[in-house]
Amino acid sequence: MENNLEEVKAPTILKSTRESVHVFAPATVANVVCGFDVLGFAVNEPGDEVIMRQTNKPGITISKITGDDGRLPLDPAKNTVSVSVQHYLQSIGRTDVGLDIELHKKMPIGSGLGSSSASTVAGLYAIKTLLGDDSDPAKLLPFAMKGEEMACGHGHADNVAPALLGGFVLIRSYDPLDVIRLPHPAGLYCAIVFPDVDVPTREARQIIRQKINMKDAVTQWGNIAGLVSGLFMQDIDLIGRSMKDILVEPVRSMLIPDFYKMREIAMGMGAVSFGISGSGPSVFAFTKDEETAKRITQKLQQHLTGIKIGSNIYVSTINDAGPRVI
Ligand code: HSE
Repeated sequence: MENNLEEVKAPTILKSTRESVHVFAPATVANVVCGFDVLGFAVNEPGDEVIMRQTNKPGITISKITGDDGRLPLDPAKNTVSVSVQHYLQSIGRTDVGLDIELHKKMPIGSGLGSSSASTVAGLYAIKTLLGDDSDPAKLLPFAMKGEEMACGHGHADNVAPALLGGFVLIRSYDPLDVIRLPHPAGLYCAIVFPDVDVPTREARQIIRQKINMKDAVTQWGNIAGLVSGLFMQDIDLIGRSMKDILVEPVRSMLIPDFYKMREIAMGMGAVSFGISGSGPSVFAFTKDEETAKRITQKLQQHLTGIKIGSNIYVSTINDAGPRVI
């Protein structure tokens, strides 16, 4: 699917079909180790929820945010959900609409699991549903990227695209925006561990190298091509041996407690691959079955407890559905 930012047109709508809607949007694993800013996939849990209601007064209010420990702004001019929704409303000429938003965070902020993306996508899917806009959800991508830009200073799409479209996604190009949904083997499980340390994406982007040499580039694009081939060929071993990152991981791993020890444990227990989820601190492993994924998350949690670091763990298959009304 090619989706040029400049070419996004107002959908032919819009007659309100409902007064309120409750939407879930999934967490995502961006980069998938070797594909910095170009690869990502959605998981079944965790995820965020938005309840959106139409009001009589034009404009957006945020009446409630839960699960954020008071960290997110209720001011609609500063919250990524309302700002993205406002951009969408402007693009379709519907600034007359009145909305109230409740945001329920069901995942940690600054976790590397696409927390801001899940909220933004839930908000955009909610307004789309509320207004009966039946155009392709991919049309919402530029608005979701605005939210990402606001959240961390850069409008990358490798969290918002899989959160919005579901499944495994490749951002082939940012200009023009060209987003491709990739297949994946059915039996791929994802074991996720979020060590409870703060790694804001904005900062995790500032520490990475801006220049790379040709030898490293050759290694990296060989791995990206290997990963994408493995996804098409349903070859889990090829996927595993391609998930190596020599550009970003060596730097960002320093922000994650016992990263290389956790890798050793996970790989020793049968993981197919192991790496940083998005900008971290969450880490993830692919496995060939659910039981192995569960055992790995429990063992890594135990290890982190041993070094006095709390953690959240999740086991999931890849979520092909993306956002949904609940
Ligand atoms: N590709 C982005 C980064 C994802 O690595 O900074 C952020 O979750």
